Amino acid sequence: LAESTARDLQLGEILALVAPSDLAGLRLGYGSLLGLPALRKVVGERSGVPADQVLITQGASIGIALLALELCGDGKEAIVFRPCFPPSRDVLLGVGAKVTDLHLTFDHGYKVNLDRFAAALSPKIALVSLASPQSPSGVRTDADTIQQMLALITERAPEAVLFLDETYSDSTYGDAEPVSFASLDHRIVTASSVSKAHGAPGLRTGWLTVPDPALLDRLAIAKTNLTISGSPLTETLAAALLESIDEVLRPRRRFLTNALNMVAAWQMREVERLDWVHPDGGALCIMRLRRQHFSDIEVETFWKALSEHELQLAEGNWFGEERRTFRLGFGYLSLNTLEEGLAALSVVMDEVTSTRPRRQHGVRRFP
Ligand SMILES: Cc1ncc(COP(=O)(O)O)c(C=O)c1O
Repeated sequence: LAESTARDLQLGEILALVAPSDLAGLRLGYGSLLGLPALRKVVGERSGVPADQVLITQGASIGIALLALELCGDGKEAIVFRPCFPPSRDVLLGVGAKVTDLHLTFDHGYKVNLDRFAAALSPKIALVSLASPQSPSGVRTDADTIQQMLALITERAPEAVLFLDETYSDSTYGDAEPVSFASLDHRIVTASSVSKAHGAPGLRTGWLTVPDPALLDRLAIAKTNLTISGSPLTETLAAALLESIDEVLRPRRRFLTNALNMVAAWQMREVERLDWVHPDGGALCIMRLRRQHFSDIEVETFWKALSEHELQLAEGNWFGEERRTFRLGFGYLSLNTLEEGLAALSVVMDEVTSTRPRRQHGVRRFP
């Protein structure tokens, strides 16, 4: 339940999408600086930008790190929306950036507060970092809010790049199509990868979309200084995967829809003890142990009791959230195992409160 990805793809499932002769003849020299042209092309098509705006990186993680290094490496300032994938913030701190945290809150459904955003902006800000859908909540930021953020950036931080981490955007439910803001504005840089919806984090293949050619050049040089190039093998496999993406994602979306329905029904049954924010995308959501039901000490007991039931959840405080919150992943396990896991979670919550002293109402005391 701690996973954020969909079920792992097996190599055979991707090999079935590639002509055997293409693989047998694949030359294992260094890859090209910006990434395999076929992969850049399909990423560009899917993100709505020309292929020459795409830089292939080893996972979205390396893209995020390169951006931090290039934009904030000399002590510049950044705004990070939290809770977030911790490395997105850690790499900024690691390169010496001055980071302002803007906390999105559970009680406001993790929506961006534009007034607080406006107040945090200044001409010194070089980077604004927001994930959509977010981790751990799966909440998306809508186009209107992004436009308003851009207007505020124009007015108050004209040098800033708006970085949108879209790593979860392909994990949609039902018939919903993924949304990318890559083509919306020249100040938007996006990151994504084949790690989450596609179930192939082991390919370590992701990308950045970067409309500003000068920034793209700097990022490409930083990439080559760090890694020389990506792997022609994994980039070929990732290109084959993305070229057949609808086929791969269709059953995964159906699965996510069923799994999300199961989680929603379980939360309804647990509503007295658990609160949640319904996700807009991603194989994940955030839940909170209700304060009226669990004391802070009982929250600690909850975390300790999980391992006795072979349960794992991602702790909210890892993302910069309260300890009584957790991220629950529902895309990785089979529906049967997910059902068992949720039932076990109910048992853990029963156990946590079962040792409470009983009330003594109506008991007659004899001397
Ligand atoms: C929001 C977010 N961005 C980026 C990543 C990194 O993914 P990868 O490097 O596998 O593409 C993760 C992984 O958990 C994530 O949650």
